[in-house]
Amino acid sequence: MRHGDMAGGTTLVAAGIVKHFQGVVALDGVDIALEPGRVTGLFGPNGSGKTTLVNCLSGVLTPTKGTIGLGGTRIENLARERRARLGLVRTYQNLRLFPALSVAENVETGLFAADPALGGKARRQLIDEALDLQGLRPHAHKAVSTLPYGLQKRTEIARALISHPRVLLLDEPAAGLGAGDWQSLVESLKVARQQMGFAMLLIDHNVAFVTALADTLTVLANGRVILSGEPQHVLANSEVARIYLGDAHAAT
Ligand SMILES: Nc1ncnc2c1ncn2[C@@H]1O[C@H](COP(=O)(O)OP(=O)(O)OP(=O)(O)O)[C@@H](O)[C@H]1O
Ligand SMILES: [Mg+2]
Repeated sequence: MRHGDMAGGTTLVAAGIVKHFQGVVALDGVDIALEPGRVTGLFGPNGSGKTTLVNCLSGVLTPTKGTIGLGGTRIENLARERRARLGLVRTYQNLRLFPALSVAENVETGLFAADPALGGKARRQLIDEALDLQGLRPHAHKAVSTLPYGLQKRTEIARALISHPRVLLLDEPAAGLGAGDWQSLVESLKVARQQMGFAMLLIDHNVAFVTALADTLTVLANGRVILSGEPQHVLANSEVARIYLGDAHAAT
């Protein structure tokens, strides 16, 4: 596909991202780099700025300050559709599906930024591939609103995968999922990453879920990166342990 030009190196680089909402400083100078084939897990307490960062990267919000580069192109002033066309794709913390449409039709909406010349057969192939990646083929023709929550979450992820993203930003994909569901989501995301080679930013409060996928962990607090690095190193930090894993873990 279009985004097959994934030579090595950094795909997405954000530098000095600041976002103010009236008096609230949601982001206070965040630097983050996402690399092809690698998963960066992003932790942070409620209100620490995780979704605001995804909103700034994806073009839902304009940062107050800072630069964002995608494969060497400056994108911080581009509309979100332009960013999507460049391969920057995200999901939302709250489901944003079209309830009256089928699973397959919802997944197909993820092709909104695709080449308009894409033929019907190629579209169907992409839909089937995305459905298969998320185990949704048996549900393809059901109205998405009739499915359990876990399958609706998977439909959102399939909609993001259908365009073969270069950078995938997932905001709490495992929220509300039971253990079996998030574990199978881990496996499906591993397969998708292997096939597509995208860079991924993965936000979730489920530490086991994020660490099952992440090559790097970054921790936000009050709109600043307080720690970033190898997962083992970050999880061994006593402040991170206190915030996320409880004092019992910090003491072990
Ligand atoms: N559109 C907005 N208008 C005003 N304030 C906002 C807006 N969006 C976010 N904020 C504020 O910015 C801060 C960061 O919020 P954000 O949603 O990015 O946090 P988060 O880390 O995603 O939290 P959670 O874990 O609860 O999803 C919070 O203080 C929030 O109230
Ligand atoms: Mg959030």
